[in-house]
Amino acid sequence: MMTVDFKINGKSVSISAEPDTPLLWVIREHLKLTGTKYGCGAGMCGACTVHINGRSARSCRAQLQDMAGKSVTTIEGLSAASDHPLQKAWIAEQTPQCGYCQSGQIMQAADLLQKNPHPTRDEIVRHMDGNICRCGTYPRIVRAIERAVK
Ligand code: FES
Repeated sequence: MMTVDFKINGKSVSISAEPDTPLLWVIREHLKLTGTKYGCGAGMCGACTVHINGRSARSCRAQLQDMAGKSVTTIEGLSAASDHPLQKAWIAEQTPQCGYCQSGQIMQAADLLQKNPHPTRDEIVRHMDGNICRCGTYPRIVRAIERAVK
């Protein structure tokens, strides 16, 4: 057991758990922020994508012991009132189908726009390539990102 202090969505938290506890479980079980989803648990699907120190990361592969002093952002912290341009574009394009992977998709897309505010379609497709959607909403995801950057 260890106690780790870090920030989540701008708030300081102090979490006591086993050092190798996945960040995903800390987010969902300890902090009750359930927008971040469990898909594969192996870093392969992107459903658990959050930002760590401003960069997208798979929270199922990050461990509590590595979070000391870091700043984590989940979908709940992306915007003050769910009004990030990506969130608005996601609604406008009616992007989700079952919705399960979509918070991870949005966090991955937000990472792209921080680095590259005006990506080409190819850049969007490449950046989003590792985030899996079993409903196959990929065309709407691309359209939503293009809408958000207009
Ligand atoms: Fe983390 Fe699939 S649950 S990448």
